This record gives sequence, structure tokens and C-alpha cells, in this order.
Amino acid sequence: MEINLAVIPGDGIGPEVTAEALETLRVIELKFGHKLRFTEADAGGIAYDKTGAPLPEETLRICRAADSVLLGAVGGPKWDGLSGDKRPEAALLGLRGELSLYANLRPAYLHEALRGACPLKPELTEGGVDIMVVRELTGGIYFGARGVSEDKLSAWDTEKYSVAEVERIARVAFEIAMKRGRRVCNVDKANVLESSRLWRRVVAEVAGNFPEVELSHMYVDNAAMQLVRNPRGFDVLVTTNMFGDILSDEAAQITGSIGMLPSASLGEGSFGMYEPIHGSAPDIAGRDLANPIATVLSAAMMLRYSFGLLEEAECIERAVKRTLSEKYRTADIYSEGTHKVGTREMGRLLRERLGDSNFTKR
Ligand code: IPM
Ligand code: MG
Repeated sequence: MEINLAVIPGDGIGPEVTAEALETLRVIELKFGHKLRFTEADAGGIAYDKTGAPLPEETLRICRAADSVLLGAVGGPKWDGLSGDKRPEAALLGLRGELSLYANLRPAYLHEALRGACPLKPELTEGGVDIMVVRELTGGIYFGARGVSEDKLSAWDTEKYSVAEVERIARVAFEIAMKRGRRVCNVDKANVLESSRLWRRVVAEVAGNFPEVELSHMYVDNAAMQLVRNPRGFDVLVTTNMFGDILSDEAAQITGSIGMLPSASLGEGSFGMYEPIHGSAPDIAGRDLANPIATVLSAAMMLRYSFGLLEEAECIERAVKRTLSEKYRTADIYSEGTHKVGTREMGRLLRERLGDSNFTKR
């Protein structure tokens, strides 16, 4: 298969972790006989420094011409003083909006080898936690009308959803549930918000097309509580842009290391943007300390969701599992009795395991 990939390393640890993911993809390319082409583009603080805009037109052009996008991370204290539209985060929102990536998949998977890193009591995670947060990504309060009054004494943002927007994200959630535990929990605030009442009604309607999937509804405050009370109670969680932002961080923390978790942002068709859910971690940038696993797993998600290369994706995921079970750890997931390694070494270990043919054929 021929794949043209736009690569946005971004800021902070972004370039380091992206480099490991690309090298990993090179091993997959060779092993499975694909042809990958990488085109680099700037976004975030680095793009602002070079061009005065966090998301240059050229970057959008490169992304639109590509089959998918792999992104490291954007942001850092250096750009904190900038206005909203110049901040590195504006690049993320711009990419999501401009590329119509309305479905954000954020798996929160607790690796057996890392159960000790989970902050919850061990009996709550026995047998593993495996939640897929499906977050709406191009609507709601993130993209609704906003403003500040002339006297600057009030400001507002608008939560607005259309039937069509809810239908398409609900469909994504149910389709994913069909490939997993066949349970969808819809999270909203329908006891208060009109937009949530519409959201809930439409999700329930879409559920009619998926009779094998069990649908439940939860208010967001309760969901925040249930996630830490009984995380195994969730399979697929579908929710709005804002609630999904918050709950996906909470779900991520249950897995013990945000450095482990990938994400996919999808639209219609096979195009997607893939990125680790962690940020740019400027405090450890350039010091060979970052965990590259989240970005490597994002590349695996890309192979699976955009290109249907399931065997290749599983091959990477198995390499991660094996490296962890052999007790190799970057600083963020290090504990006594394990081997501490840097970013580069972790990447090398993963690739070594990918290259082991006995292992891959399993
Ligand atoms: C995320 C981030 C972004 C968001 C920020 C950086 C704009 O928190 O991807 O979850 O709020 O969507
Ligand atoms: Mg967030």
C-alpha cells in the first residue's frame, strides 16, 4: 500500500516522540512491503515563531494533500501571552475544524504490566480497564458563537448542536461498540441543557439502527464519579466536545500514564489525524526523557482506522505490550524493579521487537 503522510512534529517533546513513531513506521513499511512518504509541516508555537501564524496555509495544504496526519504536540509557556487566535492550541482547533475531523477516539486502556501505576484501588481495575471515549470534536461550545461585551464586563460561549452533528458522532460510537463490548454510554447534561436534550434524543434514535448495542444515558457529573468508582462499567462513552475533553483526561489518568495513550480524529472517509493525548511537556523537551509510546500507538491507530492495516497495527501493539512486560520503562512509568530507559532507547526496543519475525508471525 502507498501512503502519503503529513507529519507535524510541533513543539516541546513533539519532535522527539514523532521521530520514534516515524522510525517505527519505517520498520512496518519494510516488513510488510508498503511505501510510506512523509511530508513535514509546522504547526503550533514553532509555526507562530516562523510565520506569525500557528496554523500556516501551507500546513493545511500539505495536510489536505496527504492521506492522513501524524501530529506530535503543540504549545508551551513561551506562547502563553498570545491572544487566542495566535496561541499554539489554535492550530489544533484549526486543523480539526478545517479538516472536518468530527470524531475523536480516545482509548483509555490500562496495560496489565502497568496496573500499579493506576491511582485507583487494585480491586477496581482487576481484569483490566478498556474504555473508548468518543468525543465530538468540531461542534459545541468550542466552535459556537462567542464574544466579550464592549465594556469587557461579560463574556460568552455558545453550546449548540444540530441533529446532523449528533447523528454522525453517535453512528461512529455505535459502529465502534459493535467491534468491542457492544455497550454505549451516552454522557450529557439533559437535566439542564436544551442542547443536551436534543443530543440525547438523537443518540437514542441512532441506537435504533444498532439493536445489538446496549445504550445507557448518564449525566456528566455522575459519569465523572462513575469513572473512578467503577471504570470497568464502561465500554464506549460518547459525548460532546467539552464533556469529552474533560472526561477523556479523567479516563486517561486511570491508566496511570498519559504518556501511553494515543488518539484518532476522524471525519468522513479514511482521512484522519493521529496524535498522542499528552501535551508538549516543555519541561522535559530535548532531554531524552519523554515516553514515545503514545505516539507510536497513534501510528498504530492510523494503520488500523485510516488504512485498514490491522495486522500491522497489532504488530506494533504487541511490541509495546512485550516491551512493557519485559519491564522497560521511561521515567513517567518507571517504578522500582524495572529498567529505566530514555526516549531513543524505548523506540529502539520497540523496533527490535517488531523486527523479531517469530514474534511478528504469532
Ligand atoms: C485536547 C486539548 C485541547 C482541547 C486544547 C489543547 C485545545 O485539551 O485535545 O484535549 O481542549 O481539545
Ligand atoms: Mg484536553
